[in-house]
Amino acid sequence: MLGPVILAASRSDTMRRIVSAAPVTKPVVNRFIPGETVDQVIPIVEELTRSGLEVTLDVVGEDITEVAQSHAARDAYLQLIGRLEELGLGETVEMSVKLSMFGQALEGGHELALANVRPVVEAAAAIGTTVTLDAEDHTTLDSMFAIHEELRRDFPQTGCVIQAYLFRTEADARRLAAAGSRVRIVKGAYKEPAEVAYQDKAEIDKAYVRIMKILMEGEGYPMIGSHDPRLIAIGQELARQAGRKLDEYEFQMLYGIRSEEHLRLAAEGHRMRVYTAYGTDWYGYFMRRLAEKPANLLFFLRSMITK
Ligand code: FDA
Repeated sequence: MLGPVILAASRSDTMRRIVSAAPVTKPVVNRFIPGETVDQVIPIVEELTRSGLEVTLDVVGEDITEVAQSHAARDAYLQLIGRLEELGLGETVEMSVKLSMFGQALEGGHELALANVRPVVEAAAAIGTTVTLDAEDHTTLDSMFAIHEELRRDFPQTGCVIQAYLFRTEADARRLAAAGSRVRIVKGAYKEPAEVAYQDKAEIDKAYVRIMKILMEGEGYPMIGSHDPRLIAIGQELARQAGRKLDEYEFQMLYGIRSEEHLRLAAEGHRMRVYTAYGTDWYGYFMRRLAEKPANLLFFLRSMITK
């Protein structure tokens, strides 16, 4: 019940101002977003990689309103790639990007987002790493997949995300499960209408399993993005049935969520990548984490009362 309310709040400017300004928000935010600058997040990345984990870094931000912000987003990623190169971290750290942060929703946004993301993908390839395009709400996906296809002409390793809650996703998975592709499957984190998405958790989980099967049996590189122990176990079994070796797929989880499970899977020999977000525009990302687990909201509210 609370999840949809929090997701609606995640798109409210008034709530954004209130939550972002509350001093007690910070410690709760830090659990999920461990830094605001590259220099703050690099020690976290080094700690994760020392523990045998791989990383995908996300500079938080979305739903921008000015073209200049889209250029700033591009430059933030280019700065990050420069630091990764200096530190020799190109091999284990990739990047995740949200095209709305690159201007996708502005006028002429499809072309703008493509023009902004291309140099990032190019710079990532130059240091031996890749970029994955995150999936946002369903109205953005045709544009995201078209940009993904365009980027893959020159950078075939560019990844994308598909969301199990959408009816369209099984067809997308079939199209994407081709040689050389990298596809992250997640349940889906946005508030979507019943015309386009399953609303029932059990239906979403069943769709997730069908899509994992398509990806595992296909020729691409599946990236299983979930903290759900049942789905992780099924993913392992589907990989085994499809005859995949341990380096022919990977698990991914979000920083700050089920961290002991990250280490357990890595210790079993799995590739385990931790999606680590950093930056100042954390509101949308933070609110989706609250919506996924209402207990997080209670923790947040309790910290406001006891301060
Ligand atoms: P589920 O929500 O059922 O959670 C399973 C268990 O994990 C819970 O019982 C709880 O223990 C723990 N858990 C999950 N979320 C938690 C939280 N916020 N706080 C505390 N515990 C939590 N979505 C999207 O629409 N587009 C995208 O591009 C991405 N990208 C992405 C990358 C990666 C690496 C991951 C792991 C997830 C995403 N997501 C995403 C988010 C995804 O759609 C989904 O909302 C979350 O992963 C939660 O779903 P689970 O599969 O973890 O299952």
